[in-house]
Amino acid sequence: MFRSATTFLSARAMAAQIDLTLFNTVTEGRATILFPKNNEVFYNPVQQFNRDMSIAAIRTWSELYLKEKRDKVEKKKRNKTHVQGESAIEPAEILDSSQAEKDYQPTHVDATTESHAVNVTVKALSASGLRSIRYAKEIPNVRYIMANDLEQDAVDSIKRNVAYNGLSEDLVRPNKGDAMAVMYSHREEGKRFDVVDLDPYGTASPFIDGAVQALSDGGK
Ligand SMILES: C[S@@+](CC[C@H](N)C(=O)[O-])C[C@H]1O[C@@H](n2cnc3c(N)ncnc32)[C@H](O)[C@@H]1O
Repeated sequence: MFRSATTFLSARAMAAQIDLTLFNTVTEGRATILFPKNNEVFYNPVQQFNRDMSIAAIRTWSELYLKEKRDKVEKKKRNKTHVQGESAIEPAEILDSSQAEKDYQPTHVDATTESHAVNVTVKALSASGLRSIRYAKEIPNVRYIMANDLEQDAVDSIKRNVAYNGLSEDLVRPNKGDAMAVMYSHREEGKRFDVVDLDPYGTASPFIDGAVQALSDGGK
């Protein structure tokens, strides 16, 4: 709680320090992004349809994913009650059940949504942060988004836009790194992402292996 409050204050303080005369703003979906006036390459309006479709696809997938998790927890609970009623408790079953319930505990609850989730998303190639910020604002139940880019300019832009949009860096986490190194360093169970989003210049094929390995079971 204290950490969130501090993060929120620093985001506001950072937003207040931005010299808005240096930027043009573009509003897309629920995000308003600052683009440096001297740099035209960052915003690609042709990609808006692609971003809209990605949001629709992740929203739909996450509803199914959460329903599956909920059903699994309910099923385990029912099995446990049933087995206990017959006084023949299977230790492994109880262990699984409590683990499933633990997995389903919310670790981030968005104030604007009622349901809970454990969704984690990585944006491996993020540029301005537009896509990550739209995901954070338009996809319910996001726990956090790692917004990664190789270039320091892009990471600075992500930080600036996260603050400008009133989001915390707990929710959208700017990260500087090579996408493959980031994804390979998240391939162990417990570190994996529920969603990996790749948006490179050109083909995504060099990143596919890293993305698949960094994905949690049932992830997208
Ligand atoms: C097409 S742009 C991303 C646009 C962004 N997803 C959006 O919708 O606004 C591609 C980005 O990938 C970054 N990039 C290229 N190679 C990378 C790598 N190996 N690791 C991380 N980022 C990389 C570039 O710096 C660039 O910002």
